[in-house]
Amino acid sequence: MIVVLLGPPGAGKGTQGERIAERLGIPKIATGDVLRAAVRDGTEQGLAAKAYMDRGDLVPDSVILGIMKEVFESPSTADGAILDGVVRTVPQAEGLTGMLAELGRKVDNFLLFDVDDDELVKRLGGRTVCDTCQTPYKGLEPGTKCEKCGGNLVRRKDDEPEAIRNRLEVYRKQTAPVIDWVKEKKMTLVKIDASGDVDEITERALKELEG
Ligand code: AP5
Repeated sequence: MIVVLLGPPGAGKGTQGERIAERLGIPKIATGDVLRAAVRDGTEQGLAAKAYMDRGDLVPDSVILGIMKEVFESPSTADGAILDGVVRTVPQAEGLTGMLAELGRKVDNFLLFDVDDDELVKRLGGRTVCDTCQTPYKGLEPGTKCEKCGGNLVRRKDDEPEAIRNRLEVYRKQTAPVIDWVKEKKMTLVKIDASGDVDEITERALKELEG
C-alpha cells in the first residue's frame, strides 16, 4: 500500500506517519528527514537544499523526484510506503504518479491531515526534534536526550516564527492545489481530523486505510 500524507506544517504528518507505518509494517519515507540528513552530512544535495529549507521554501521538484526514484527502486518499498512531506506541488504529484505507473504501481490513498492554523503555530513553536533520528517532541527543551535513540533534541531553524509564517503561506499557495488535482484525477483522498489525542488520530487514519 502506498499512502501519501498531505497537510500543513505541524499537522502531525511525521508523528502519525511513524505510527501508521509501524502498524502497517511498511517504511515511512519523509523527504524532510532525507533532506535534513543530507544537510547534516554536507552532501551536494544537502548544500543545495539548505537555504530553501531554512527559509521554509520548497526545494526544487527535480530534487524531490530524484529522491522518490531512489525510494521506489529500493526493495525496502516492495510492500509499499507511507510518504510524509511528498507530494507538495502539482508537478511532484504528476511526477510521482507517472513514475509509479511506469512501475505498475499507484498511490492507494491520500490522507489529508486537517488542523486549524492557531494550533499549527502553537505546535511548531513548541517543537523540538532529535538531531539523530528526527523524532519530534513537544514541551521538551533543546539539549534534552531523545527517548528513542539518546540523540540531542534541537529546535529546527524553520520553526522560527518568520519561517513558520512562510511555510504556511507556501503550503496555501503551492501544496493546497494538490488537493484539487487529486480530486480531478478521481484518486482516493480522505480528510482526517488531526486535532486532539494522538492515539485517536492514529485510529481514525487506520480505520480509513484498513476499512
Ligand atoms: P518537513 O520536514 O516535511 O516539514 P513540514 O511539512 O513543514 O512538516 P513538519 O515536520 O513541520 O510537521 P508535521 O506535519 O510532520 O508535524 P509533526 O508530526 O512534526 O519539510 C521541511 C522542509 O523540507 C520544507 O519546508 C522544504 O524546504 C523541504 N521539503 C521537504 N519535502 C519537500 C517536498 N516534497 N518538496 C519540496 N521541499 C520539501 O508535529 C508537529 C508538532 O506537533 C510536534 O512537536 C508534535 O509532537 C506535535 N503534535 C503532533 N500531533 C499532535 C497532536 N495531536 N496534539 C498536539 N501536538 C501534536
